[in-house]
Amino acid sequence: MSGISPIGVLGTGSLAPEKIVTNFDLEKLIDTNDEWISSRTGIRARRMAGPETATSDLAIGAAKAALQNAGVEPGEIDLVIVATCTPDHPMPATAVLVHRALGLKRCAAFDLNAACSGFAYALDVGWQMLKGGAHRKALVIGADIMTRAVNWKDRSTCVLFGDGAGAVVLGDVESGGILSGALGADGAGAPLLMIPAGGSREPSNAENIAEGRTGMVMNGREVYKFAVQIMGEAAVQALAKCDLTPDDVSLFIPHQANIRIIESAGKRLGLSPEKIFVNIDQYGNTSAGSVPLALDEAYRKGRIHKGDIVVTVGFGAGLTWAANVIRWSI
Ligand code: ACO
Repeated sequence: MSGISPIGVLGTGSLAPEKIVTNFDLEKLIDTNDEWISSRTGIRARRMAGPETATSDLAIGAAKAALQNAGVEPGEIDLVIVATCTPDHPMPATAVLVHRALGLKRCAAFDLNAACSGFAYALDVGWQMLKGGAHRKALVIGADIMTRAVNWKDRSTCVLFGDGAGAVVLGDVESGGILSGALGADGAGAPLLMIPAGGSREPSNAENIAEGRTGMVMNGREVYKFAVQIMGEAAVQALAKCDLTPDDVSLFIPHQANIRIIESAGKRLGLSPEKIFVNIDQYGNTSAGSVPLALDEAYRKGRIHKGDIVVTVGFGAGLTWAANVIRWSI
């Protein structure tokens, strides 16, 4: 029976589309320049999915890699959570497409939408469900194709985003594992970052498509202010729940939205730069894909070792935020 052993990460995986779009490439398409993008955000390139690729394709690739790295057979999985705000279809959930592709047994599979906080939210939800003992092994995936969610005529947002997915397999570990989580939302901030049309409030039509209302609209300055404050706060809150402080952190894996937000959060937490993982320069903001993509890359690059305290933090539309504290156990 699960729930007796701690629950931790058994393996990580990720997948991003092969196509790299640099800031210089964007200069040829829209009225922008590398200097503006890189100095304000730290982004130099992003990956872009081709027309044949949907979010589930990235999610499936990341999940397969995580299963392989964990040494876990698909048949052992009995819970799938896909965090995404760019699902393949309004229904069914992207999680069932992953379920079908991996040939999983008749187990629970659902999507979770907390925008860029999605993976950190899903990690906590998966952990709670395994801790409760009703499930033994979970695939927790964050995947988004943001290049299809932006308004390509809005240069202040479209340059910030990219496509990608990451996944972890959760299950029993001997010691350590996930120690705590802190989730939150402030619905008053919903208008600050949204895709106004294309849902039940304002179904898509020729007019709102032409107006760009089926793409993202963001008040960048307000989101920025929120982000620099909440990143540190969420991390400290989650650490306090397991009697730890920022001094105990081995590696901080923040949502990769803007290097200035990351550096400012790092300063607030008193973390030296080598304790902060950054890959925003290569991927931009991949929303729910961001934290698990970074987690997988950090682990594969040898930046995380058994026994390390890893803190992940996401923030995004909602406004939402989530942090997880993990004592790494593989
Ligand atoms: N290229 C060139 N110039 C541009 C571009 C561009 N791509 N975009 C905007 N500009 C111009 C503007 O028109 C403006 O010009 P003006 O002064 O002549 O009017 C000028 O640059 C300054 O724009 P600001 O909005 O002041 O730029 P700022 O320094 O605030 O940076 C940014 C904007 C990068 C968006 C910042 O506000 C930010 O990072 N905010 C947080 C966004 C974020 O993290 N979002 C992710 C949330 S996660 C989720 O759930 C999706």
